[in-house]
Amino acid sequence: MEFIDEELLNYSEEHTSPEGALLRKVNRQTHLNVLKPRMLSGHLQGRLLAMFSHMIRPNQILEIGTYTGYSAICLAEGMQAGGILHTIDKNEELEDVVRGYFAEAGLQDSIKYYIGHALDIIPTIEATFDLVFIDADKINNALYYDMVIDKVNQGGYIIADNVLWSGKVLEKYRKKLDEDTAALLAFNKKVHDDERVENILMPIRDGLLVARKL
Ligand SMILES: C[S@@+](CC[C@H](N)C(=O)[O-])C[C@H]1O[C@@H](n2cnc3c(N)ncnc32)[C@H](O)[C@@H]1O
Repeated sequence: MEFIDEELLNYSEEHTSPEGALLRKVNRQTHLNVLKPRMLSGHLQGRLLAMFSHMIRPNQILEIGTYTGYSAICLAEGMQAGGILHTIDKNEELEDVVRGYFAEAGLQDSIKYYIGHALDIIPTIEATFDLVFIDADKINNALYYDMVIDKVNQGGYIIADNVLWSGKVLEKYRKKLDEDTAALLAFNKKVHDDERVENILMPIRDGLLVARKL
């Protein structure tokens, strides 16, 4: 399900700051060479993540789900000088190309890139975060949330992608609930009910859930 008319989406993209040469390259090379390129955040969402980062000015960022590095590069844009973005992905096949993109962005010293299962890696990272971006296996969203919430600084943010799951969260599609959709329904409710945060579910692209720790 597309949430916005294609012409309006095009118009919005035309009136949004461009991606920049490296991000355009990452986007294009991912579409040419990597499986499931739809997973990449893309122009509009990438600019939104960068805008959030400029607004938050994070010192420490955690990203769960690097893929080809597009969103990491966007999130690093607003990071404070000397800040660190920690990003985790279990797909070791993308490692060399992603490290190459981070180096091209001049981010090799400010991005710590971990290869492995996020459930194993997160407890090993000794930091507290101003911004966490959850964008990996949706079935574990609630677990990731529980693992990071105490490591998010007061006033810090957790952003989760794909929370509308192509519209499958709607009641009318719930007769045959697959496990990812069930997990996302539980996750969205959990965050909404959590008194430690205030949240907004933004119907942008596939749905972004933004929570601010009180
Ligand atoms: C939607 S993509 C991330 C897209 C990226 N954040 C972007 O916007 O360009 C999801 C990524 O999560 C990774 N992933 C899935 N399950 C994981 C897990 N349990 N631990 C670490 N990475 C995982 C996949 O290998 C994939 O690269």
